[in-house]
Amino acid sequence: MSTNWSPASWRKKPAKQMPSYPDSAALKRVESELSKQPPLVFAGEARQLKAALAKVSKGQAFLLQGGDCAESFSEFNSSHIRDTFKVMLQMAVVLTYGGQLPVVKIGRMAGQFAKPRSDDFETIDGVKLPSYRGDIINGIEFTEKARIPDPMRLIKAYHQSASTLNLLRAYAAGGLADLHQVHSWNLDFVKQSPLSKRYEQMSNDIDSTLAFMNACGIHPSNTPQIRETSFYTSHEALLLQYEEALTRQDDYGDWYDCAAHMLWIGDRTRQLDGAHVEFCRGINNPLGLKAGPSTNPDELLTLIDTLNPENEPGRLNIIVRMGADKIADHFPEILRRVSAEGKQVVWSSDPMHGNTIKTSNGFKTRSVESVLTEVKHFFAIHKAEGTIPGGIHFEMTGRDVTECIGGAFQITETDLADRYHTHCDPRLNANQALELAFLIADSIKND
Ligand code: PEP
Ligand code: CO
Repeated sequence: MSTNWSPASWRKKPAKQMPSYPDSAALKRVESELSKQPPLVFAGEARQLKAALAKVSKGQAFLLQGGDCAESFSEFNSSHIRDTFKVMLQMAVVLTYGGQLPVVKIGRMAGQFAKPRSDDFETIDGVKLPSYRGDIINGIEFTEKARIPDPMRLIKAYHQSASTLNLLRAYAAGGLADLHQVHSWNLDFVKQSPLSKRYEQMSNDIDSTLAFMNACGIHPSNTPQIRETSFYTSHEALLLQYEEALTRQDDYGDWYDCAAHMLWIGDRTRQLDGAHVEFCRGINNPLGLKAGPSTNPDELLTLIDTLNPENEPGRLNIIVRMGADKIADHFPEILRRVSAEGKQVVWSSDPMHGNTIKTSNGFKTRSVESVLTEVKHFFAIHKAEGTIPGGIHFEMTGRDVTECIGGAFQITETDLADRYHTHCDPRLNANQALELAFLIADSIKND
């Protein structure tokens, strides 16, 4: 166990991006109530994920992490969860088939509520209010009342996460993820797209392979991998009161944050002496660490030592999110330094957060083209350095939204207003996500 660490030791450190609650007594009551609730995940599952990520770090598996930028209370329903899950399955099967590697699937789901914000305030028509920080903290409505941090939201987020996870577990093990269902994962609106044909072709190939395997005696009743899958959850460990209340000790005395299998530290809260790094260093879950263009290689090496002092493979995932136009300048040196020091990390690419732009009609968006460009650079840089591109991290949804521009349907800036539903950053829709999965599978194959 880490020295001088406790689930509450972060409280002595400076914390960025955390709300200040006007009713501290109510917050205390909520924390106490949450700390008595059952854990959402078990330590053993987090250890399984760590073992799977250790394989990713060696190039024996590929990581696919994806989901909403921010889950919300109002968009919570089973079809939304099911469709995002289906798209992740589709992407995973495309990557497995194309890249010939098992895919470790982690959702930004069942707890991805709290958001860091660039500005503490939002001004509309001369009215200035505190920024929205995610449904676990305050409300998105632009009113003074909605923007006051409300501790009861932590309880609601916990229960919504429990229901989400319950459904995800049922989908993963209850038949939906059976490889014989590969055709049915294709959502209706994707069927109209040009890549649907390619998906159908691949699905037919998988059907034939399954039939062949069945003839050889390999079938779902003796090979569970055919009928079920592993699906893990993750979110940004931002609202530390919530994370602390769900942190529990396992039978060996080790601490785990049982709110999710994996937790990550955001690009805005990765200060070495800050509360978020302090909290995360003591939990034994696999950790993510976002690395944006301001990442300093020396600081990163110290952070790696703080978060993974034993250099344990599978413990730490560096999620590179530089931006398509910056990655080639910033990432090679970082990669070289970390590799030269022999650090065991999983490198993944988040090609979303460095590529956010604001359109002239006022929408926050990302272009599929810049997303793809950043991923391509990520792969090329690894190839040049002889290191392992472990995975990708996407903001995506199974809904047919219009939030990112480009893609096979050529969504334009004017289309954005049609179905722009995100509570925070723009997400890839199912078509765009699947298209990128094919392109990435092609890149892996050509390497
Ligand atoms: C996010 O993942 O939604 C996020 C805010 O990322 P970053 O910390 O990389 O900006
Ligand atoms: Co985001």
